Amino acid sequence: MSLRPIVILTGAGISAESGIQTFRGAGGLWNDHRIEDVATPEGFRRNPALVQEFYNRRRRELLGGVEPHAAHTALGRLKDEYPGEVTVVTQNIDNLHERGGVTEVIHMHGELLRGFCMVCGERFDVRADISVSDACGSCGRVGALRPDIVWFGELPYRMPDIHEKLDRCGIFIAIGTSGNVYPAAGFVGRARAAGAHTIEVNLEPSETQNAFSEHRYGKAGDLVPVLVRELLTEALGPSV
Ligand code: OAD
Repeated sequence: MSLRPIVILTGAGISAESGIQTFRGAGGLWNDHRIEDVATPEGFRRNPALVQEFYNRRRRELLGGVEPHAAHTALGRLKDEYPGEVTVVTQNIDNLHERGGVTEVIHMHGELLRGFCMVCGERFDVRADISVSDACGSCGRVGALRPDIVWFGELPYRMPDIHEKLDRCGIFIAIGTSGNVYPAAGFVGRARAAGAHTIEVNLEPSETQNAFSEHRYGKAGDLVPVLVRELLTEALGPSV
């Protein structure tokens, strides 16, 4: 029975079939919005209303009927049934992994449904829009709330935990990520150094394709359920 720890890194491509826009490529968010304007602390200081509106729109979309699909639920099944450790690290700020059955997700770039106060540090769930005139429920300061999103130039969350998992993983799988943004794009190298088998699952070859030992190209909704079945069969036997 194989108990190799598995680390899975996901990106915007895994949520594309649920109707959430990716960042790069045709139809990507970064075609219509400048990263410097909406995804940096400097952009937020310059025009907080614009940045709040950008994330308010994303949050409204997420809460307005977006559903997880077969790739998300397959990862939920893997997490439940694999007899070893499975860690899901996502760059995505949606909650589709959780709704697909992965109860514990490392959101290294933050979460759309969380916010925090820049003055007192209080973190809270967010279901409605955040406005520049909102007051913090904890310290009362007006205009200090922001979405709990990691912007360019800020440190992604839980990096020590992620490194610890990568350093002892036996299988590393990247799903739906273009390999443009570090540190996530460097995880495959770290997993390889730990001796892991590395698998890229993406619509097309990513920027880091050469670092992977195995490649599967197509839609996550088609490929991930097949991969999960294979991993479970390898670990549990052919009755899966
Ligand atoms: P990208 O938009 O850069 O890349 C998405 C990848 O998913 C591309 O390589 C697509 O080919 C692939 N893809 C699209 N549809 C797919 C499908 N149905 N099945 C499988 N793959 C598909 O998104 P990320 O790599 O996640 O950060 O971007 C990384 C970070 O850059 C994001 O977290 C965000 C962004 O700027 C911040 O905002 C801090």
